[in-house]
Amino acid sequence: MQEKFYLTTAIDYVNGAPHIGHAYEKILSDVIIRHKRQLTDNAFMLTGTDEHGIKIQKTAASRGITPKELCDENFSKFEQAWKELEISYDKIIRTTDEQHKKTVKQIFKKLLENGDIYKHSYTGLYCSGCESFLSPKDLTEDGLCPDHLKKPEEITEENYFFKLTKYKDKIADYIKTHKDFIQPSFRVNELLHQLENIEDISVSRTKESVQWGIGVDGDDSQTIYVWIDALSNYITAIGYDIENPTEQFKTLWPADVHVIGKDIIKFHSIYWIAILMSLGLELPKTIFAHGWITIDQSKMSKSIGNVIAPHDVLTAFNLEKPDAFRYYMASAAQIGRDGNYSDEDFKEKVNADLANNIGNLLNRTLNMLVKYFNGEIKSEFITDKSNKIAVMAENTKNQIIEAFNHYEIAEAADLIVSFADAVNKYVTETAPWTLAKEEKMLETGKVLYTVLEAMRHIAIMLYPYCPNIAEDILTQLNEKIDFKYENLYWGGLKSGKITEKEKIKPVFLRLDSEFATDKKKG
Ligand code: MSP
Repeated sequence: MQEKFYLTTAIDYVNGAPHIGHAYEKILSDVIIRHKRQLTDNAFMLTGTDEHGIKIQKTAASRGITPKELCDENFSKFEQAWKELEISYDKIIRTTDEQHKKTVKQIFKKLLENGDIYKHSYTGLYCSGCESFLSPKDLTEDGLCPDHLKKPEEITEENYFFKLTKYKDKIADYIKTHKDFIQPSFRVNELLHQLENIEDISVSRTKESVQWGIGVDGDDSQTIYVWIDALSNYITAIGYDIENPTEQFKTLWPADVHVIGKDIIKFHSIYWIAILMSLGLELPKTIFAHGWITIDQSKMSKSIGNVIAPHDVLTAFNLEKPDAFRYYMASAAQIGRDGNYSDEDFKEKVNADLANNIGNLLNRTLNMLVKYFNGEIKSEFITDKSNKIAVMAENTKNQIIEAFNHYEIAEAADLIVSFADAVNKYVTETAPWTLAKEEKMLETGKVLYTVLEAMRHIAIMLYPYCPNIAEDILTQLNEKIDFKYENLYWGGLKSGKITEKEKIKPVFLRLDSEFATDKKKG
């Protein structure tokens, strides 16, 4: 058993409401942490919101409310969305939390004392979208920020700077010698290239330009610039303190994985690592950068008007539980690649996998058990682990653990579906209805046992993606176990009465169009 697992997500900006891009990351993270909890008792997930900076200040001013009021309003939307999607975080941090602000000031002071922060007058191109200075070579041919397609402003200010260049070689070395550090590894070259051209970074802004942020102790003229504030959440949330870190911090740090989007990989793999090096802290084991979600193949944007909130998808398809949406999102892209959301794909994917493949398999097998054996498994039906489905179950389990070790979440979902496919094929091949007709009842019973035992495995393996469906499957199998991987062994399903006719119901209803209204597009 792994002794602990600490996962963090990016903390979302609260200058708007959550959309399915934010949801994608939180679902991936939740699937990972639920899987890790199946293997260890000490798996901890942190998420949160990034609440300081000029964008919040400006949005609040334009609405005539205080920045804190804007943050509170949007924070509750994120909190609500994560509740609806059953994101099982252990802590949600806000960068406006007092404890966080206090520790960030401490961290800034420590970096200053270490000689890694210095004051410097600087003229540069500032993008308020990125909340960072861009170098001319980062811009598009038209001189725009490539991410926000806005012209950066030229700004001259006296700011504090962090000596990133001092750590450049050490970071490159770390990336090169730690194969698991950047996942997926196809991002490594791009990062090493960025590192070659790295410069010291500004880590504060003047109070005139940004008021909404954490002040620098002993210097009233400056506000700590968002990235030091934001990145530090990963340690402040679990009780980091320079003098006196908590037991929780000592147990959980270093993070096993920071789950983030591909757009902010530089901040995590370079800036954050340099800050940690300066603080003398251990480095995170993995930075896992996922791709982006597009809508019907277009980038989601307010101006196109195609931004979809997760709640809208659930409402549009009349879904009381988030399982189908979680499953679809978690399967949306191969590791690190971009994925796409479309209503049609969503319907097709979950109907095929959850309703037709997994749901029907359980349903018809339980019906046969009722028809031929009055819903009862006799002890002589129990098959041993040498049969081919049992062997496949064991292999699938091991492959899933391996896939999760590499953050291949969609790939792990495919393994479950392939296993269910194989079990469906086994049912077709063995044709228990024919065996029953020929009165080969022992053989029939063994086939049904094998399928139901495979279903018990499927429930446990599916649990991180679809916790409610997994629970329903176990209930229908009359199983009272939890979802720990230690329950994944052949022969766990015991003999005895399992079910009766009235108890059998579909674990997932097809998303056919008559169920789906079109509230989302309205
Ligand atoms: N506040 C920073 C992160 C600081 S982490 C110390 C930020 N916030 S964000 O709200 O813009 O994005 C939060 C996360 O959502 C990021 O990891 C980002 O990549 C992800 N996504 C935002 N839009 C997305 C999609 N359309 N698709 C997938 N993920 C996307 O960046």
